[in-house]
Amino acid sequence: MRRYPARLLRSRHARAATSVRIWPKPSDSVEVGRNFTLPVSADPSPPLLSGAQRQCVDDVAARLDAVAADLGAADGPEAHARLADRTIEVLRGLRDEAGPADWAAVAVPAVRAHPLGALMQACPLTRHAFARPRGYPGDAGLLDLIYRHPDADAAVAAASAAGRAAYAVTAGTAPCAAVRERRRILAGAIDRAAVERPGAAVLAVACGHLREAEISAALREGRIARLLATDQDRASLALVAGRARDLSPAIAARRLSVRDFIAARATTEAEIGRFDLVYAAGLYDYLDDRIAARLTRRLFGLLRPGGRLLVGNFLTGLREEAYMDAVMDWQLLYRGEAQIRAFAAEISEVDLAGQRYFADSGGCVGYLELERA
Ligand SMILES: C[S@@+](CC[C@H](N)C(=O)[O-])C[C@H]1O[C@@H](n2cnc3c(N)ncnc32)[C@H](O)[C@@H]1O
Repeated sequence: MRRYPARLLRSRHARAATSVRIWPKPSDSVEVGRNFTLPVSADPSPPLLSGAQRQCVDDVAARLDAVAADLGAADGPEAHARLADRTIEVLRGLRDEAGPADWAAVAVPAVRAHPLGALMQACPLTRHAFARPRGYPGDAGLLDLIYRHPDADAAVAAASAAGRAAYAVTAGTAPCAAVRERRRILAGAIDRAAVERPGAAVLAVACGHLREAEISAALREGRIARLLATDQDRASLALVAGRARDLSPAIAARRLSVRDFIAARATTEAEIGRFDLVYAAGLYDYLDDRIAARLTRRLFGLLRPGGRLLVGNFLTGLREEAYMDAVMDWQLLYRGEAQIRAFAAEISEVDLAGQRYFADSGGCVGYLELERA
């Protein structure tokens, strides 16, 4: 029988233990499928933990041990898919019970120290999120894995069979489906702008790999006059510029950050023009309320009369939040409808011709659409 690969047990989860001292001491083991044996019953040393925190750490170890034990001798893709699904569910329960402070301070490090947390790193989506290869969370490569884009095929193919099985589950979760729907919503907004405002100019903020452009009929058919794709990430912009050669001559890529927009640095009307559609997806989830409202005002100011601004934000209450936080190290600012509507707080009513809030089909992402008078 093969032991669980030591390489993964020594993974970068080590950084989890920086905020609280936890020393896992594997004292037992459980068989997970034919191919893996996980050490279990981690016993973090308690000196800095309160009684409640100690209980929280014990609960994490016990529940994750139980998930591993439940699998018994089962093996193969189905077993690993079940493992991923159970881990997501168990972490949700643990987070609800721990409360925000103990969850962050002790439960998350305990999850990362547990071999099951390490095992989930075999999933290429989980691994990419945790590794942050571009140095920041939620890069466009991660989005490609979520989109199941062909550019991510090599990363998936390089994963183990267990990792691919876990990926089938993680990429199939509701938030990932919502990101794929978001891509379609953005492409739809571009297509609609082309119909309603012939020769439309479009501004994509934090565009990543601009994957929505690949499924926009209007862009393919040359009905968009200009699409300015902006992001802070040079590598993403290089990819966008390369793809633009095949997709549409209307696309131009420029390195502009949120800060540039807020400070009106290289982003004035004289410098980048005005637009019929401005949108940002996968960005507001990282911006605090104040910055979000400021950015919204600035982006709204770049619209032509009758133009629309469309922004989205993940909604509160996702089942996968705890897994994303603890195992993927991917934290978002989840918001409710009122907080998303408040993005428009700094825009004068007289400038607004209309505003619309809507949620996606799975209730995962909320959208605010603002029309300029
Ligand atoms: C989750 S990805 C979303 C990419 C794309 N909009 C999509 O939906 O596929 C987030 C993007 O925001 C960009 N980003 C993050 N912080 C930024 C900032 N301060 N200014 C500009 N772009 C930023 C990242 O470089 C990354 O491409």
